[in-house]
Amino acid sequence: MNKIYFDHAATTPISKDVLNHMFRILEKNYGNPSSIHQLGQSSRALIENSRRQIAKAINSSSKEIFFTSGGTESNNIIIKNLLQPGDHLITSTIEHPAILKPAEDLAQNGIEVSYVKPNKYGIIEPQKIEKEIKKNTKLISIMMVNNEMGTINPLEEISLIKNNILLHTDAVQAFGKIPLDVSKIGIDLLSLSGHKFYGPKGVGILYKKNNVFLRGLITGGGQEQEICAGTENVAGISSIGLAAENIIKDFGKNKSLLNELTDYLINSLKNHDVNFVINGKNRVPGLLNISFPKMLGQNLMINLDLHGIAVSYGAACSSGTPKPPRVLLETGIESNLAKSSIRVSFGKDNTKEEINYFVNSLVSILSKELKNV
Ligand SMILES: Cc1ncc(COP(=O)(O)O)c(C=O)c1O
Repeated sequence: MNKIYFDHAATTPISKDVLNHMFRILEKNYGNPSSIHQLGQSSRALIENSRRQIAKAINSSSKEIFFTSGGTESNNIIIKNLLQPGDHLITSTIEHPAILKPAEDLAQNGIEVSYVKPNKYGIIEPQKIEKEIKKNTKLISIMMVNNEMGTINPLEEISLIKNNILLHTDAVQAFGKIPLDVSKIGIDLLSLSGHKFYGPKGVGILYKKNNVFLRGLITGGGQEQEICAGTENVAGISSIGLAAENIIKDFGKNKSLLNELTDYLINSLKNHDVNFVINGKNRVPGLLNISFPKMLGQNLMINLDLHGIAVSYGAACSSGTPKPPRVLLETGIESNLAKSSIRVSFGKDNTKEEINYFVNSLVSILSKELKNV
């Protein structure tokens, strides 16, 4: 069992109060929300309360919030349902596979897809998107924060150049780390995932502006206005609302802690004369993609794991493959530097003592592994 968890971009541990809340609901609120009797209606009330909590957290109307099974489903519903053959989609090369794979599927079915590359700092520039806009462009989908580098994309600026084109953002890595106000940013559609902000896995959010028409990928009982048919995951849905409320309440506190831990790590590495490069600029608090030249990131991750520290090499979903992280290569960095990277992502319960242990372990691993290089 890992003792130190520095992999919050992969997933966050569920917070205690959310877990207790979820247990209570699983036990007591078993009524089907579509049932007319009181047990059913108490489940319905939990769902509607969660919808209001999420709406408040992102400054939308609760009518614009829909529950799904996660970020992947929200992204798929949006990408696969809004576009018809002949339409054009603009996205970026650094999106999560939950955008890139459905985009590939669309391209096989007569939809034009343009991929914008990031600049060398890992940021998608609005001018590059503007250049790709055509008469048939129907949707622009650009992630708010990149999951491997933590870089923040200028969504507000992108929304200014989009005209009548729909703008979607995968904000799975952004929520709770940077302010997210859908009205202010000017986005039409957005995806979130509960397990990235101390909520349960398997529950996601799809925000869509009232004027956007969408249907889900599966048909059935018509729940969630046919966007996510099937009996609702009442405990998960109610818990994601509580998790969202908590993360907004603690926003300032978490932000200063994560910034403090990030600075502390960087200073400790410098004080120990560690040779390192941070990939990407303009990042969310607490997420660092760091290359340690000449050390293979994959080996470093495994060695740190043996010291009881969990970090990742590339994104969690691509770890296990020894290739250099694709997203880093997109920024133009040299393949060896990309291969020597790890992703460290802090959470609300991490401490400076844990960072001290991490840096000591890292120094000892690097000195052993790089002895013969
Ligand atoms: C940017 C981004 N989008 C989408 C997802 C997928 O979300 P979920 O795991 O809820 O399907 C992730 C998860 O790693 C992510 O980081």
